This record gives sequence, structure tokens and C-alpha cells, in this order.
Amino acid sequence: MSEALTIRDNRTGKVYDIPITDGTIRATDLRQFRTSHTDAGLMTYDPAFMNTASTRSAITFIDGNRGILWYRGYPIEQLAEHATFLEVAYLLIYGELPTATALTQWAWQITHHTWVHENVKQFMNGFHHDAHTMSMLISAVAAISTFYPDAKVSDDAGHRDLQTYRLIGKMPTLAAFAYRHRLGQPYIYPDNDLSYAGNLLSMLFKTTTELKYTPSRALERALDVLFILHADHEQNCSTNAMRSVASSGVDPYSAVAAAAAALYGPLHGGANEAVLRMLRDIGSTSRIPGYIKRVKAGEGRLAGFGHRVYKNYDPRARIVKRMADEVFAETRPSPLLPVALELERIALQDDYFVTRKLYPNVDFYSGLIYEAMGLPVEMFPVLFAIPRTAGWLAQWREMLDDPEQKIARPRQIYTGPEERNFLALAARP
Ligand code: CMC
Repeated sequence: MSEALTIRDNRTGKVYDIPITDGTIRATDLRQFRTSHTDAGLMTYDPAFMNTASTRSAITFIDGNRGILWYRGYPIEQLAEHATFLEVAYLLIYGELPTATALTQWAWQITHHTWVHENVKQFMNGFHHDAHTMSMLISAVAAISTFYPDAKVSDDAGHRDLQTYRLIGKMPTLAAFAYRHRLGQPYIYPDNDLSYAGNLLSMLFKTTTELKYTPSRALERALDVLFILHADHEQNCSTNAMRSVASSGVDPYSAVAAAAAALYGPLHGGANEAVLRMLRDIGSTSRIPGYIKRVKAGEGRLAGFGHRVYKNYDPRARIVKRMADEVFAETRPSPLLPVALELERIALQDDYFVTRKLYPNVDFYSGLIYEAMGLPVEMFPVLFAIPRTAGWLAQWREMLDDPEQKIARPRQIYTGPEERNFLALAARP
């Protein structure tokens, strides 16, 4: 055995060689560590998956210590500079950058699957006027599974492609419908002449007096770059939800709804919304030291700071920060930008954040850009979910083709009572 871990079980005195492959040992190899025939074997205990790889994946690579992010081997900086979101979505899903012909066909397929059934408007209308747009999106994507009863897992590649086109195509439409419902404005249908990001801007902002909406070039590109940055991030909470839920064989619409629900939380994709609320709450640079003091005292967290994997500057945050200036040149400078810059400066010098390796993450600056585009905070997690759908689908497809994957089913350490007899109501203390 070339690489192995030799372990002596002190309970039995037996010595085992556990093979090491790709820097990991297999948790199931520990089952042979038994104290008796009835013993089910040793398990690993890893709440929150702090040190457990749940899959092999060829999609996204992160080196958290060096602040590196690649999609299929391409550095995120290069993709953000040279690619479009649809090119990146293709790359994530099929593993290679598309040829010109493949890209045209791919864009055609996505564009021609942006429409949703007219009944979608009816259930959108059923939501309360101030329903959160992310809740509406989660519900809507789950609901559209009802229009595709044939979408259960299939081995047919064409069938999977169809669900992929539909989901990437329809997420912006559902998102924009949710936004327009909140405003009480008529829904705007997709415009096939526009780019993926441009069409979303049209569905969000087009007024009924305009024959055709022409997006600002700068804002369209900024949104496209933000979509590239958010498209995948290996086994994060929502991707884990996507894989876990889809491992039961459910249709991808239901699994994407579950993944989007996981994304909604303030520790994950809801953080961009939380950042903006925090910056508004702080209000001015003079109030930053007091805010940091409260965070250090355990009264809440600095939203948009820290990451499970990055122990260095999140490379996505660096790109977003640079892009903010270009967007503000087109819109108006964000009054909260000085607060964000100063907050970052002070935190990066503070021992509390330095020792814990807490740096700004992708969500720290993205909200400022969305706000400058005229979007309310409730739309921020929605704008995360749209591009992440490409990543979720890439991970879903990879999982379906992985012969090692089965239905996700973690183990537990039971800590409840021993067996006991039922007590009649009158006999209970
Ligand atoms: N502000 C203050 N303290 C923090 C923060 C923060 N934002 N993040 C972590 N810490 C502290 C935490 O209190 C703990 O301190 P101690 O060792 O004294 O108990 C230490 O740092 C380690 O934190 P943890 O909670 O064990 O780390 P984690 O890997 O479980 O959590 C995280 C990662 C992203 C949930 C966390 O950093 C956090 O809550 N950040 C704020 C929310 C946020 O910005 N989320 C977006 C993540 S990036 C986008 C995405 O992928 O969704």
C-alpha cells in the first residue's frame, strides 16, 4: 500500500492500514474497527461537514488559503474579464468552453425557454403585496415542476439538457415576475433580442410606454459579471442541498427550489441583503468603531465577512469591489460606499478579524451595486439564485453520472433515552 494511515484501535489492540487517496480516507473503511460481531463499526462525527468530502467533483476548485477560484480550471478573474455568463454556464455544465456554433445553439436554447406558462401569473398574484421576492421565487420554481411531470430523473442526455435549458431560461422570468408583483406593476415578457442579463433588466425595469427596453451597456455587463462570479462555488450549503435533495431522484425543479431555500439564509446568499441592511444601520463612518465593538462582544456578525473555505480575501469580492466604481460612474455614487470601505479598512486591521482570518466575501460589495441599479434589498438573494442555478444544475448532472453517489443519508449519534414503556396520560408526572 503506497499511501496509508496505520491506526491501532486501543479497544481491541488491532492495527489497521487505511488507504489514503487524494488526501482522504474513506469513512466506510472505519467500519472494520469493531469491538464485537454486533458492533456496527466506527463512524466519523463531522457536524456541518467541517472536514468531510461528500463527492469527487471536476467543476469548481477553491484554494481558500491562497484566495483562488477556478471554474473547470479557468481562473475566475479571466472568466470575469473575457467571458459572458452564458459561456460560463455552458463551461460549468459541459466542462469545456463552447465553440462559436455551440454557444449560438446554447444561447438559442436558453432564450427559447424563457417563457413560463400563463398560469404562473395567477399563482404569483396570490402572494401578498409585500411577500419577499426570494420566497416567491422559491415557491414559483417548485410550482413549475407541476408543468413538467415528465421531468423525473432520466438517463437520457437530451432530457437532462431540456430541464437545464428550462431552468436557466426561466429563473430570470420568475424572478422578474416576483419583483413586478411586489411593485404592483404588469409582468413583462422576455425579449429574445436581448442578452441574458439585458433581458432580465428589461423584465425588471421596462415601462409600458416603452416599445423596447434598451439596457445600459455598463449595467448589463456589470450584472453579467456578477452572474459569472456567483455561478458556482463547489460544495456550499445550497449546492449540498441540491445534491442531497436530488439524490432521492426528485425532479430538478423541486431540487432547485430546495437549493434556493438554502441560499436564502443570511449566512449564505441572504448575506448580501444583510450587508446592505447593516450598512444602512451603521449609517456613517463615525459609528463604525461602536458597531465593530458590538460584533466583537458577540452581538451579531459583520455581514459579508468571513467564509468557511476562504481564509484570505475572497477573489470574487476583489472583482466586485473594482467593478463598483464603473457602475457608480453610470448610476450615482452610493452614499454607503464610504461606510463599506472604512468598515473593511478597520476590520482588516483589527486583531479579532485578523486572527480569525475574516476577510470580505463576495456579498460585501455586491449589494451596493444592486442598490445603485435601483433594486430593493429583497432582490439581492434572488440575483444570487439566478446564476447559481447553472452551478446547481452542473452539480446535479455530475452527481447523476457518478456511480459512487447514492441517496444522501448521513448517520447520527443517538443521544436520546434508552427503551422505555409507554405511560398512560394519567400516569405521567
Ligand atoms: N463577524 C464576526 N465574527 C465572525 C464572522 C463575522 N462575519 N464570521 C465568523 N466569525 C467568527 C466566529 O464568531 C468564530 O469566532 P470564535 O472562534 O471566537 O467562536 C470564528 O470567526 C469562526 O466562525 P465560524 O462561525 O466557526 O465559521 P464558519 O466557517 O462556520 O462560518 C460563515 C462561515 C460565512 C457562515 C461566517 O463567516 C459568517 O457568518 N459570515 C457572515 C455571513 C456571510 O457573509 N455569509 C456569506 C458567505 S459568502 C457567500 C456564500 O457563499 O453564501
